[in-house]
Amino acid sequence: MALDVLPVTARDYFRSGAWGESTLAENIAAWGRLRLWHRVMRDVSARTTECTLLDGPSAMPVGIAPTALHRMAHPDGELATARAAAAADVPMIVSSLSTTTIEDIRAAARSVRPGARTWMQMYVGRDRAAVRELAQRAHAAGCEALVLTVDTPVWGIRERDVRNGFRVPEGLRIVHLERPGGPTGHAGSGIHEALAWTIDASLTWADFEWLRDSTPLPVVLKGICRPDDAAQGVSLGARGVIVSNHGGRQLDGAPPTCESLPYVAEAVAGRASVMVDGGIRRGIDVVRALALGADAAFVGRPVLWGLAAGGEEGVAHVLALLRTELDVALALCGCTRPSDVTSALLRP
Ligand code: FNR
Ligand code: LAC
Repeated sequence: MALDVLPVTARDYFRSGAWGESTLAENIAAWGRLRLWHRVMRDVSARTTECTLLDGPSAMPVGIAPTALHRMAHPDGELATARAAAAADVPMIVSSLSTTTIEDIRAAARSVRPGARTWMQMYVGRDRAAVRELAQRAHAAGCEALVLTVDTPVWGIRERDVRNGFRVPEGLRIVHLERPGGPTGHAGSGIHEALAWTIDASLTWADFEWLRDSTPLPVVLKGICRPDDAAQGVSLGARGVIVSNHGGRQLDGAPPTCESLPYVAEAVAGRASVMVDGGIRRGIDVVRALALGADAAFVGRPVLWGLAAGGEEGVAHVLALLRTELDVALALCGCTRPSDVTSALLRP
């Protein structure tokens, strides 16, 4: 439905991967190849999908990955996503390239559920004072964690966007990052031109340490592929890592997240939370992620499709589908709760 209602430039921005889009396709296909050696005769009559995620409760081990520009998908934008996430009782990671302020997003989430959980995603741009200010705003607004995205020293080249002349549409604003007289995202073709000013290719572990020391909030690293990077991040104080290749939008040729996840989980070895995103489309994919060592899985595009097709109701529907599918998948695997899922479900 979303593909039918969205204008072509928005649709292509949301769905694109980088270059030949091989990682985008593999993200989905690789989950599908993972076989689950399900157990039988285990009394699964009493079940729950509830779990603990980053020291807080969640209705299921699923959350909303940060995606930019929700008002390009639907006029209610991030407010609709936040209400649906709060109603479904799952954490939402707000993109720092959102089109609504974190204060308004938090108010919408809290109006639905006072305990609604919101994490703030951060890009570190050249203006470090602006980064610190956004971290402080996120804390003041009641966000529980910062999610530092580390796989964007430069933007990947998404060829559909270049052909379409994609830029931030007139009337929408990158509210957290724009400064009077500064760049706005309304010029250039593709985000590697239009949004080059939002990131900084000089990023290193020292910037992570700086952000960690600038905020009382736990910091999660998003965009980890390798076990050595995961181990370094955890040793420097990351409270969680999200195995991600940015939905196939950055390095085309990166492994599907399903392949890197077990190595990262092994390296982290329970010292921090391990999460994954990329190609999670069904509840069964969430079980697959848990079996490979993740504590939770996050969804990006499915939420955008729900938002475009039906606003808050559409996002609520996507989350409800995932929860029902996860519940049934757990039962069919002989599990009564997410923590029952272990590597024992993989090939014996
Ligand atoms: C993203 N992603 C992303 N990540 C991030 O840290 N900050 C951001 O602003 C965005 N923006 C964004 C926009 C769009 C349109 C997409 C599709 C993705 C990456 C996102 O958080 C996540 O890693 C992937 O979307 C997960 O893959 P799936 O679920 O879309 O396959
Ligand atoms: C993207 C950026 C905004 O992938 O994260 O489009």
